[in-house]
Amino acid sequence: MAKKINIKNKKKQTNPMLDILTPIGLRFNKNTLHIGESFTKIYGIIKYPNKVESEWLSKITNIPNTVVTIGIKPVDNTNLIASISRNITYDRSLAESSKDPLTRQRAEKSAEDVEKIIAQIDRENETVALMTVCVATMSRDEQDFKRVCRRSESMISVLKCKMRAIPNLQKELFKHIYPTFTNREKIENILQKIVPISTFVGGFPFARSGFNDGAGYYLATDSNGGLVITDIWKRASDRTNSNIVIMGNSGVGKSTVIKHIIISEYMNGTKIILIDPESEYKELCKNLGGNLINAVGGTKGKINPL
Ligand SMILES: Nc1ncnc2c1ncn2[C@@H]1O[C@H](COP(=O)(O)OP(=O)(O)OP(=O)(O)O)[C@@H](O)[C@H]1O
Ligand SMILES: [Mg+2]
Repeated sequence: MAKKINIKNKKKQTNPMLDILTPIGLRFNKNTLHIGESFTKIYGIIKYPNKVESEWLSKITNIPNTVVTIGIKPVDNTNLIASISRNITYDRSLAESSKDPLTRQRAEKSAEDVEKIIAQIDRENETVALMTVCVATMSRDEQDFKRVCRRSESMISVLKCKMRAIPNLQKELFKHIYPTFTNREKIENILQKIVPISTFVGGFPFARSGFNDGAGYYLATDSNGGLVITDIWKRASDRTNSNIVIMGNSGVGKSTVIKHIIISEYMNGTKIILIDPESEYKELCKNLGGNLINAVGGTKGKINPL
């Protein structure tokens, strides 16, 4: 069983890994625990989407202020196919018997997706594995801890996964994620899910940082020095439009970023319209061969004058 630990934390705040490795003390509650000075909650991921995008796991392992462990155990394909086939039979009969159109549609979709996985395993001889993912949220400040938990839960739900802090099992979960303990069978029985090995590998769980849409242009580097490559026209469940807001203190570089975006979009062929009350982008407009319309110079300057 491979085990992976990944840490992300803000520099000035806690060092979750150090707290886990050398806890000053441990106290377990129903849904949370204290590791040394840190407030901690260990969640298990109980649901994954049927389809995932490439690098999907790195989005889980890069959630700030969390320690994430991923367990992978290869399994025998024959047993797996038998068990998945039962799921398909169940979904198909649900699709046929249900009166509710939504339930019917969902069951049909689920059966189709699972059939595709079976075909992949059977025809292409794909190896499958049992995967267990735990997410521990940590903070030394109680208010911040609540915020960290909320943010992690919402980031997980955007990825169409579900995670639960399994009640009364925080101690078992702690042992499960602790590097020197063996994996806990009780936890595995609750959390493990069958995945084709390519789903795990294509999730790039070890990608530490950066953000890459696979298209678009270089925008910035993140706090770990990873490249941020964006395509603002890309659509996904968490990207339903292309609106962006750039915020920052005075003189921090907002206008510089906007100019960089304008030039990069221009080079990609985007049609650009700037509303520029301070004439800040006049030079840029000239340099890109644009038309400048002065809309504040009396009747002559009006757009569509009556
Ligand atoms: N990445 C960067 N590295 C170094 N200098 C930079 C960087 N980005 C911007 N600057 C410089 O910082 C100064 C302020 O940048 P800019 O005008 O973009 O800030 P701003 O946030 O728009 O400011 P304001 O709030 O006054 O509009 C400029 O001189 C710019 O050249
Ligand atoms: Mg500015």
